[in-house]
Amino acid sequence: MKRLLYVLFAIIAIVVVSLILWPTKTNAVMGDKTLVAYFSATGNTRGVAEKLSNAIGADLFEIVPEQLYSADDLNWQNDASRSSVEMKDAASRPVVASKIEDMSQYKIVFVGFPIWWGREPSIIDTFMESYDFAGKTVIPFATSGSSDIGNTYENLKKLAPNANVLPGKRFASDVSVEDLKSWADTEIAK
Ligand SMILES: Cc1cc2nc3c(=O)[nH]c(=O)nc-3n(C[C@H](O)[C@H](O)[C@H](O)COP(=O)(O)O)c2cc1C
Repeated sequence: MKRLLYVLFAIIAIVVVSLILWPTKTNAVMGDKTLVAYFSATGNTRGVAEKLSNAIGADLFEIVPEQLYSADDLNWQNDASRSSVEMKDAASRPVVASKIEDMSQYKIVFVGFPIWWGREPSIIDTFMESYDFAGKTVIPFATSGSSDIGNTYENLKKLAPNANVLPGKRFASDVSVEDLKSWADTEIAK
């Protein structure tokens, strides 16, 4: 009889512990974390991305080109510079050297970049095509000389058709942490 009681107690204990752990396991499998992924050639977007990830407690990932952009590469006044050539070619996909090991852990992905020729740099197109964004919310953000982020999100939507891509926002590089946080909180709540 005593033995039977021990077995019964053990079964109840296992069931109770499983019930307590179950929601945690489910969240881990589905992924509920937030990521700030960014490309920055001259540091402006990096600064905004760092402030944003600190403000909202998100992981930070830099989209690093296999071949870094030199000052000559970035010369938009030269039609033959690397950036000019890439941006004129819609099929251009510069190689990304860095890799996110487990994208499935993220539910929300902020994607940051400088505006080049009115849109996202081609390396962002490479990034968007490198992962499965199904069921994730993608929130673009950008820095620029003066251009707005425009309808860049429509490009990202085409590259990640299963994602919920929000319109996003362009920021000055000296945007405050408070402004970034209040914007991000509003976007995340959408
Ligand atoms: C190739 C190239 C094209 C650019 N095109 C634009 C543009 O169309 N509109 C604009 O306002 N700024 C443009 N800029 C300026 C950048 O968007 C701006 O300096 C940005 O903050 C740079 O970000 P980063 O330091 O993170 O690379 C361009 C810069 C480069 C190098």
